Amino acid sequence: MQRMSLSNSSTYLVTGGAGFMGSAFVQYKLEQEAFKGSIVILDLLKHELCKERLKLLTEDTRVQFVQGDIGDRTLLQKLGSQYSFDYVVHFAAETHVDKSIHEPELFVVENVEKTVTLLQVVKGWSQCHFHHISTDEVFGSIKSGAFLETDAYEPNSPYSASKAASDHMVRAFGKTYGLSYTISHACNNIGPFQYPEKLVPLMLKRMLAEEPLPVYGNGQQIREWLDIADHAQGVDLVLEKGERGACYNIGSGQERANLDLIKMLGALLEKKGLIKVGACEKLITFVTDRPGHDFRYRLDSSKLESLGFKPRYSLKQSLERVIKQYNEAEAVPDQAYETWIKKQYSTKIGVTS
Ligand code: DAU
Repeated sequence: MQRMSLSNSSTYLVTGGAGFMGSAFVQYKLEQEAFKGSIVILDLLKHELCKERLKLLTEDTRVQFVQGDIGDRTLLQKLGSQYSFDYVVHFAAETHVDKSIHEPELFVVENVEKTVTLLQVVKGWSQCHFHHISTDEVFGSIKSGAFLETDAYEPNSPYSASKAASDHMVRAFGKTYGLSYTISHACNNIGPFQYPEKLVPLMLKRMLAEEPLPVYGNGQQIREWLDIADHAQGVDLVLEKGERGACYNIGSGQERANLDLIKMLGALLEKKGLIKVGACEKLITFVTDRPGHDFRYRLDSSKLESLGFKPRYSLKQSLERVIKQYNEAEAVPDQAYETWIKKQYSTKIGVTS
């Protein structure tokens, strides 16, 4: 069994490194004092939150930033001749299930085609290891028990199908061209700087603004929640100790039904005096369900745990971290976000803002 060894002087290319998950990974590396290597962040900077994240990360001299697209082959080739990358950690992707229901073609382009362009270039970088960030959603929904890395893929949304396709491409590049790779499947991530199209920041934003909280269906769907910093720990561990050509689940074991999670968030905000007592309950509004809505995800993470993985944050601590960041950050106007909210929610609950 071949394993990788991490040198503290390695050079990383982190695609989507200014985004929610990518930036947390970069931050995790920078917090390791022994890390004397360098990180090149390649990111399109699609929205304002990414710019805020980037400002913080690029204060560190170990970080270089390149604004660009993973689908730009010329740019990738230029980067390859400029730096000798030891690792590519591929976070860049379209990740929102609801958006994929509106625009499935976009997900094929962004998540499948562009990953293949990236793979085509990286396969020519000798000694470079490719780590692909995937999701638990490629396995579909599970009523009881937990998914193993070896379970069959059964993606149910255009998003998860696009991630499944990109996973298969990574594996195929490993088998066909000898690319050194690993893949990690993560459960739902939670933490600061998540774009508020996703459940937790969306509900937080709307509770603080006293706006209706759109709960899909009966709100009993179950998700497993992992702090974004713990996800970064898991990815780093796979890079350090993972077997080449292997897949690893990164989960926390912390399951909650959506409605319970929303109420937990509401209770924390009430306790901090940020919303009125009983406000969350009053704002909860059951709306038309998401088409093809997966009922439950749960990962068996024992393979990664056997390498030493142990999440540090409880769900409550993660929610506290999200609330703290949200309170401290300046509100950044984002026209694209307002447009999305109208598109997704106006027919559901007449949301206009
Ligand atoms: O499981 C990992 C996946 O988790 C990642 O691969 C995806 O990129 C990420 O978006 C997330 O997918 P989900 O669909 O689980 O996340 P989302 O935050 O969109 O929704 C979480 C749950 O909350 C889901 O059951 C749908 C529900 N929901 C979501 C929104 C946005 C609502 O009830 N109302 C909402 O307005």
